[in-house]
Amino acid sequence: MTENLELKKAASWLKQAKSVTVLTGAGVSQESGIPTFRGASGEGLWEKYNPMELATPEAFEKDPELVWRWYEYRRDLVRNARPNAGHYSLARLENLLPSLSLITQNVDDLHQRAGSRNITRLHGNLFEARGTQSSCVIPLPDPLREIPPHQEGEMLRPNIVWFGESLDSKILARAFDAARQAEVLLVIGTSLQVYPAALILPLALESGARVIEINPFPSRVPGTMVLEGTAAKILPALEAELI
Ligand code: OAD
Repeated sequence: MTENLELKKAASWLKQAKSVTVLTGAGVSQESGIPTFRGASGEGLWEKYNPMELATPEAFEKDPELVWRWYEYRRDLVRNARPNAGHYSLARLENLLPSLSLITQNVDDLHQRAGSRNITRLHGNLFEARGTQSSCVIPLPDPLREIPPHQEGEMLRPNIVWFGESLDSKILARAFDAARQAEVLLVIGTSLQVYPAALILPLALESGARVIEINPFPSRVPGTMVLEGTAAKILPALEAELI
């Protein structure tokens, strides 16, 4: 079947669906110039940097300044980036498909800046901090006035879910509910290597959803339709079939 026929089929699934869930990962922001974590080209962040030294509670305890500088570097990349055609298409799809629920593993703010409204963030937010003792979450001052930042005498940490940590249980429950309820699940730009986010796809499949993967290097999970290509190319093409 040609790519165009696949696109038409995917669009007809979306049109018929009473509820649509979207799961995005780092690949969605790749065409905005934000590096992914893992990748075929060897340029993924976790190929260059050791996550155990930067993205664990132990790493933070050992060297909070190093960890904060790593997230400053990441924040800087995002500040200087703009949403791409894929982010904008997803934001417009929310208007075309009012049931659409967007779940992202990304900690950048590009979905939001593109205009998506109904966003569930599984892994936190680069632009927020939270207390190391209290659980208060605050927007980060920009630029940071001190590294590591403090509030009322308490050291703050990035509001990011690190390796070895649990996801917020309410957020995870919302994401799993959206997976179970989905008639169509779009899985875009994720390697599906990180749990529990990776469970969203099998959960949706088991619950009877049609699953469409958009990725230039797809996982090709049995039972899913693949639209092979980048998010900024495939999503506008899919949107065009829906209008
Ligand atoms: P990965 O870096 O593991 O995977 C990126 C995926 O995007 C791969 O499958 C690529 O083939 C695909 N990709 C690359 N360029 C693309 C493009 N232009 N369009 C579409 N897809 C493209 O990223 P995630 O699966 O999001 O955790 O990683 C999951 C988690 O691992 C992240 O949330 C992060 C990391 O540790 C935290 O930040 C807590």
